[in-house]
Amino acid sequence: MLSERMNQALNDQVKWEMYSSYLYLSMSAYFADMGLSGFANWMRVQAQEELFHAMKFYDFINERGGRVILQPIDAPPSSWDGVLDAFQKTLEHERHVTSRINDLVNVAIEERDHATNIFLQWFVTEQVEEEDGVNDLLHKLRLINGEGQGMLLLDKDLATRVFTMPAATA
Ligand code: FEO
Repeated sequence: MLSERMNQALNDQVKWEMYSSYLYLSMSAYFADMGLSGFANWMRVQAQEELFHAMKFYDFINERGGRVILQPIDAPPSSWDGVLDAFQKTLEHERHVTSRINDLVNVAIEERDHATNIFLQWFVTEQVEEEDGVNDLLHKLRLINGEGQGMLLLDKDLATRVFTMPAATA
């Protein structure tokens, strides 16, 4: 059974993961509008991953006898100052999510809720991968420095990304 405080904190996170999905879908639309279909694909897959994260929290709350209460999702921005800026904002957002996950772990520890703490460890690891993946892309974008051929090659590469259900929870 979840404590009320833990339940509320997990409900808040459902909203944050949904917002993350919304944010990346908005970036996908922005890239599609720029004719960068590979970048658009990468963000679309990112949005699918975030939806998966939201549902993972949703299922866990139900499984633990909690109550899911969905909250309003803010509208994300719809434009950025180019590709590099969008990925910088992505990294900032992921860092914010990481700090939220760490806060959730603290709540689980304070509530002596070991099951939730174990559940959250998957997200702790996932956030390391998320930040690393975006950082890697940022490095490449800085190297390319907006040069056309490099951007087109990276766009082609990002077009190959597909959503795969994480193995441990498939
Ligand atoms: Fe669900 Fe990108 O963190």
